[in-house]
Amino acid sequence: MAADHVILSIDQGTTSSRALVFGKTGEQLAVAQREFRQIYPEDGWVEHDAAEIWRDTVEVCREALKKAGSPSIAGIGITNQRETIVLWERASGKPLHHAIVWQDRRTAGLCETLRAEGKEAVVQEKTGLLLDPYFSGTKLAWLLDNVEGARERAAKGELAAGTIDSWLIWNLTGGKAHVTDATNASRTLLFNIRTQDWDDEILGWFDIPRALLPEVKDCCARFGVAGKEVLGAEVPILGVAGDQQAAFIGQACFEPGMMKSTYGTGCFALVNTGTEFVASQNRLLTTVGYRLGGETHYALEGSIFMAGATIQWLRDEMKLIKSAADSEKLAAEADPDGHVILVPAFTGLGAPYWDPHARGAILGMTRDTHAADIVRAGVESVSFQTRDLMEAMGADMKGAGLSRPNALRVDGGMAANNWFLQNLTDMIGCPVERPEVIETTALGAAYLAGLEAGLFQSPADISAKWRCDRHFDPALAGADADRRYGRWKEAVGRILSR
Ligand code: G3P
Repeated sequence: MAADHVILSIDQGTTSSRALVFGKTGEQLAVAQREFRQIYPEDGWVEHDAAEIWRDTVEVCREALKKAGSPSIAGIGITNQRETIVLWERASGKPLHHAIVWQDRRTAGLCETLRAEGKEAVVQEKTGLLLDPYFSGTKLAWLLDNVEGARERAAKGELAAGTIDSWLIWNLTGGKAHVTDATNASRTLLFNIRTQDWDDEILGWFDIPRALLPEVKDCCARFGVAGKEVLGAEVPILGVAGDQQAAFIGQACFEPGMMKSTYGTGCFALVNTGTEFVASQNRLLTTVGYRLGGETHYALEGSIFMAGATIQWLRDEMKLIKSAADSEKLAAEADPDGHVILVPAFTGLGAPYWDPHARGAILGMTRDTHAADIVRAGVESVSFQTRDLMEAMGADMKGAGLSRPNALRVDGGMAANNWFLQNLTDMIGCPVERPEVIETTALGAAYLAGLEAGLFQSPADISAKWRCDRHFDPALAGADADRRYGRWKEAVGRILSR
């Protein structure tokens, strides 16, 4: 690879599309970003305009490359919001409907029906997931049922479906490649993560033809070639992973027991369990951590829907803070012994509760409760939820004869908040480590493309690049942490719908 070759990393997230240019040692050279429209057609529904996502993605790629001095590109890495599903027409490349976003709850009823039919055990056994509207399968079934003529056209092979990575690759390659990677496939509810193939039994439940779905590749592979008209030169797409798995790679969690937690809109914690499928006994998800050289490495995942989004809510709806950074200052000013608990179940609760009907609450207020106490409760809710996940993970790891994680690597926007990280380490009773680069998602996608391009030789090369910026150790007595956590559990118990 020539000295001026770079990796272009596309990070297509829930609220923004970004492109980052990385140099050959993984250094960030340029970034461009566009926020895009969130569409809420009904209560609990969330959609994106897939055509807008594609247009923005091309623009940010061009802008980032220009900022980096228009270098030649060795390859493209793609990482994306997971589970969000697009259905499009093969002939024209036009979406038939807005993309249905991972946060969308419209298929809660269908999930309940399937659960009542006893299908959750099959889902868990084959896909590692649970029956929740979060995953793509029921959303795709909804599209086929509700877009006029879609079922007949899908049966005739006229349509294609895929997660956002597939949609972007289809467009980058001018419709030549309909592909995805194993991590994105593992979030669809349709992919058997033991056999690494689409599952005919589950496809049958939803009457989804195989031909509608993309070919599934390793995370490092030849996904296709972006046409000259897109970036001015033909560029191979060499690395793909869902955003949480990309962060897992960016955090170099390559050994069993290594764990990361990304605090973006939501919080997604993944712990490496090695090459064996570990079935969760504690309502966590088993998922593909990464698949390299045909070998699948599994992870247990805990998904929390509201982390940074809780801070946004405190800022935009409650107007208690002016910027996310204010939450650090206010939380530090709050009464350290306060009893206020905020449960941010704005779109239901994810792991380990999986209650799409639960709704948020603030409990334990008195006459002298101040704004600072509510802000603190909002930040602390993220620590409590992480502890929920850590407890479930610890139990699952123990059950599988694996050792518990001995540190938690954190990233994402909230990882800049030192008060939060100290509170988090106190609550989980385990060291927390923040790396120098907290843009680990885009970095992980760049690493995957760099591995395929031969820029990096192995995961060990990537591990050697990981640097700790700050290490946090628990400073609160375990009994005090337990007391606070007990209040959280009690508050959650009050708002669960079943
Ligand atoms: O599973 C949903 C997740 O991939 C979304 O991540 O960072 O776009 O909120 P983010």
